[in-house]
Amino acid sequence: MKKDTLIIHRGRHPKDHHGIVNPPVYHASTMVFPTLAEYEDKAKKPFEGVQYGRAGTPTTFALEEAVTALYGGHKTIALSSGLAAISVTLTALLKSGDHMLIADNIYAPTRKRVADVLLARAGVETAYFDPGAGIKDILQPQTRVVMVESPGSVTFEMLDVAKIAAEAKAAGVTVVMDNTWATPLFFQPFEHGVDIVIEAVTKYISGHADVMLGTVTVSTPEQFQSVKFTANALGNCPGPDDCYLGLRGLRTLSVRLERHQRNALRLAEWLQARPEVDCVLYPALPGDPGHEIWKRDFTGASGLFGVVLKEVPKAAVAAMLDGMELFAMGDSWGGYESLMIPTDPAKVRTATEWRGPGPSLRIHAGLEDPDDLIEDLEQGLKRLTKAS
Ligand SMILES: Cc1ncc(COP(=O)(O)O)c(C=O)c1O
Repeated sequence: MKKDTLIIHRGRHPKDHHGIVNPPVYHASTMVFPTLAEYEDKAKKPFEGVQYGRAGTPTTFALEEAVTALYGGHKTIALSSGLAAISVTLTALLKSGDHMLIADNIYAPTRKRVADVLLARAGVETAYFDPGAGIKDILQPQTRVVMVESPGSVTFEMLDVAKIAAEAKAAGVTVVMDNTWATPLFFQPFEHGVDIVIEAVTKYISGHADVMLGTVTVSTPEQFQSVKFTANALGNCPGPDDCYLGLRGLRTLSVRLERHQRNALRLAEWLQARPEVDCVLYPALPGDPGHEIWKRDFTGASGLFGVVLKEVPKAAVAAMLDGMELFAMGDSWGGYESLMIPTDPAKVRTATEWRGPGPSLRIHAGLEDPDDLIEDLEQGLKRLTKAS
């Protein structure tokens, strides 16, 4: 079946629920067992089926089933946020004395909170690498994990995921990818050699700016046991209402992404032609440094992209951002509404230098009419120029 059909039909079992289309929200800590034999049986099958609320309910399993169908992996584990999906996975895969490689364009909390603090405290060493380079020459005997994100959600550099994965595989190293920007509709990590896929469901899958949720999709039963055990031991379990909303968002992911993409492309092209703009960072644009890889590997682009402005004082950026009518300033993305924030990529890089002539912005193109969004941007750029 095609992905557009899978997102409608997977994770739904109306026959089990009086014919009701959507799976119900099971609120549960406790499940009761009718016989001693059944009670004792569950201990023999850890993490299989309904046992205790922390390990999930049929609502959790419905979301996990649908995400697995889209990614094509072995199984999915739902967690309470995208960052939880990252920290639980890396904790499951790594131990003291291990070494990890992370691409320099990674989501900042992955490096600054998980790798550089939590994992460093546990004796795991992390080295960052140039997203545009391979990893063959920097692998160490104790390297166990390579973590990538393509494109990164601030600088939008594309990685050659298949090349990096092949180099990792040759050394027996596990490849973890944060695929939140592309979602399973626009990039299939397992087909490019990735072993474990992270998705911040908080963003496009939920799609309505009202849910925190993450998923980890693994490719082997061993990875499933390890990640599920770690999630359970850390007590991480998403609430059933959030799983329900994540699954509800998933049903319209394809039509929403189509519009996000169309709007983003229109805004990106418009901005590219503006005298205030140095460059637009969006791999779907011909001429973007990542365009060829994007065209080769991806089937679409989502609505998040970057803009590097020509040099202006901070007060000019404030004049622009403070007066925006439709673009609100908020750290997230993937919802139906447009957002715009200032970014400072240079601050979080260590393996490579990031330089722009002026300040950078990150734009999330929402589902509004693009003419209105352009009008808002035009007024914003006028304020920027006036305050420069
Ligand atoms: C690329 C990327 N990955 C992961 C996350 C973390 O997701 P969450 O906010 O659900 O913890 C984010 C959040 O902004 C993100 O942008």
